[in-house]
Amino acid sequence: MASKAPPATRHVISINDLSDAEIEKIFEMAQGFLDELPDPNFSYRIGKSTNIAPNHILATLFYEPSTRTRLSFESAMLRLGGNTITSADPATSSAAKGESLADSVRVIANYADVMVIRHPRDGAVRLAAEFSPIPVINGGDGSHEHPTQTLCDLFTLKKKNKHLKNLKVAISGDLKGSRTIHSFVYALARFGAHIDPMPAPGMELPAHVDRRLREEYRCEIVSKHGDDAAGSIDALYVTPDQPHQQSLFSGPEVDYGVVVQKKVDAVYVTRFQKERWTEKDQAYPKIDAKFLKEPKYSQASVLHPLPRVGELDAAIDSDSRAVYFQQAAYGVPIRMALISLLLGLQKGKPLATFESGFEQPKYPLYEQPILTGIRCANKNCIVHEPMEAQYVRNKFNIVKTEFSPQPRLRCFYCENDIDDFVIAHKKNHWFTEDADGVLRAANQNLKDFVFFADAGQATEAGFHHRRNSAEPKAQAEGAKSS
Ligand code: NCD
Repeated sequence: MASKAPPATRHVISINDLSDAEIEKIFEMAQGFLDELPDPNFSYRIGKSTNIAPNHILATLFYEPSTRTRLSFESAMLRLGGNTITSADPATSSAAKGESLADSVRVIANYADVMVIRHPRDGAVRLAAEFSPIPVINGGDGSHEHPTQTLCDLFTLKKKNKHLKNLKVAISGDLKGSRTIHSFVYALARFGAHIDPMPAPGMELPAHVDRRLREEYRCEIVSKHGDDAAGSIDALYVTPDQPHQQSLFSGPEVDYGVVVQKKVDAVYVTRFQKERWTEKDQAYPKIDAKFLKEPKYSQASVLHPLPRVGELDAAIDSDSRAVYFQQAAYGVPIRMALISLLLGLQKGKPLATFESGFEQPKYPLYEQPILTGIRCANKNCIVHEPMEAQYVRNKFNIVKTEFSPQPRLRCFYCENDIDDFVIAHKKNHWFTEDADGVLRAANQNLKDFVFFADAGQATEAGFHHRRNSAEPKAQAEGAKSS
């Protein structure tokens, strides 16, 4: 059933699918698409009308409500001189009849040149992209990521502050459920900004995002009150001087005291993502004039991906620190730039051939046969959607960092981690908890193995515990030679 996209097709599912250089290129091009309006009191900027995309079609496939993302993508394509087709209501599309995402995408790819998808399931757009020969852009997938919103957020910060390095950015509200936050914090860390989390009670950054910031982006956590408070809500992620990859060999050289004392450069507010929680009423922080009176916020821009539903007081709309409507307006030139790069509409390198400046760690990928073995532990992951379960394979990157030498499984689609699992040898029929030892001995030759959630699942599938085996050593050797 799988029909793979040709290798040159670039998809933008995570902010980490774009290199730093590509993000800078998008900003440079977006600047060129900005229409500076003559009225200085009307500070919003819209996209210039051009005619560089005649005969090109953008499809928007939205399984979840949207105003800004869908309309700004469509506006962007029209301003480029192209056309749009849309499926914005799942009730009126074939999804209502039970069509799989894979089938819908393969059909729509024949009708358009580039596609934007929004979906309530985490990882859905990564799955969709596997079946698309045309570029797919993530318009927001569950609580996973929303990379183009992050491009608007970074662009807004950059316009305001000229650069992102050493900015101190407070993030407020539902840090767990907000996909905009997850893409945003990775980008902040990559560009050297410091992240000051201000979660609503119980809505801290998800554990896998927190761990990734610390272990893969080398953020150091400093407590604002002196304790070492990893994972606590009273923590500040300080990004090393040389963010991300370059810093792998040198620790951050940052004066923590200075960062803790530093005034906040931006407050990023998010709404309670009620559609992703079963609890309905929550204590929730409100950002208003009183909050912003604190001296540390005197220069802080206020951002919000919108929509707001009470957590951001309308009384501050006229405050010069409020930039959220500008942020939304930038959605058009930013998306014009992204579409243009993806389709190679302008001279210069299209994204497909752009030299990457952001080398992501390459973790081995384990692809599991259908209907056996471990499944992603995140119940909102696309792999659990009944319509998709008939064809989707569970896939995991095997992630090992120097901080946690025991490998963990990161779902290829939703990027949640699984720490505890067992590994089984397909031919020899044993399983063990010692995945690290086995994978090292077998030189990570993954095709010989299958992962299970626990001993019970492995036993049920006909495997026996290696420690109970009569010839454990010989079988381990089997793993080495196979
Ligand atoms: C956000 C989203 O959909 O994730 N909206 C947007 O695209 N600007 C934020 C939200 O819905 O809270």
